[in-house]
Amino acid sequence: MSKEDTPYSYEQLEKFATIIKEKTGSFHPSIGIIAGSGQGVLVEAVQNAITIPYTDIEGFPQSTVAGHSGEFVVGKIGDKDVLVMSGRLHLYEGYPAWKVTAPIRIMHLLRIKTLIVTNAAGSLTKSIPVGSIVLLKDHIYLPGLCGNNPLIGFNDERFGPRFLDVSKPYAKQLRIVAQEAVAELGFSGAVIEGVYCMVSGPMYESPAEVRYLRSIGADVVGMSTCPETIAARHCGMDILGMTLVTDVCVFSVDDEEPPLTHEEVLKVSTKKAGDMKALIEKVVMKLK
Ligand code: HPA
Repeated sequence: MSKEDTPYSYEQLEKFATIIKEKTGSFHPSIGIIAGSGQGVLVEAVQNAITIPYTDIEGFPQSTVAGHSGEFVVGKIGDKDVLVMSGRLHLYEGYPAWKVTAPIRIMHLLRIKTLIVTNAAGSLTKSIPVGSIVLLKDHIYLPGLCGNNPLIGFNDERFGPRFLDVSKPYAKQLRIVAQEAVAELGFSGAVIEGVYCMVSGPMYESPAEVRYLRSIGADVVGMSTCPETIAARHCGMDILGMTLVTDVCVFSVDDEEPPLTHEEVLKVSTKKAGDMKALIEKVVMKLK
């Protein structure tokens, strides 16, 4: 294994955390937020923001995808100090799962206890239309079940246990807060709870795969989130996962749908990012 292939040590992750701490001085974020595809506008919710491009953190991986800018933004939402990661890392960029989840461990070292993670995903049922927001109550981490999992390899007990219980991946209490926020904002009709399935991507799914994913119990499918959720649960964080539905997957090769493109996903995500931003602001303000 070359140095490049070696998972970050606790000490290396502490170095990254220290760089962020030194640049953000008086803030002590207790909430971490990961902005999904096209949802970079979330950073506009942050007041008195200090922005740290990933390029300013020596040795930190860079985001390579359109719609993901690649920076940490630290500041306030209401009376809470938050850290927003705008520009997540994906398995399909070629990053190993331990690299994708390094920001979570950095958040843990910064004493962040609550993680809000958003994503763009396809719907696996016509009953969840484009534009819906799905509050995640559970997930199927397909790559993680098959070996592409951030917890594989040496386990540093300072982060968490060798064998992780994932019977409650997403915190019910946070979903309740999100439901209250949704009701106050008045967009309850389009918000439901559901199961997210992660695939590696970068291809979108074939119709047979879509039917398969539906049959195993998934409501939405995307290419992110589960590695971060697992790493965050491993170090004891509570997680609120929220999906913005950008497309309804194609169930039959005979369907006359135009081909799905990343541009279409970004278009819908960007259009609806204001809703996600309002929801996150409300949720953060309601958190104790
Ligand atoms: N499939 C997988 N990932 C996605 C999709 C999809 O249909 N839409 C947005 N991200």
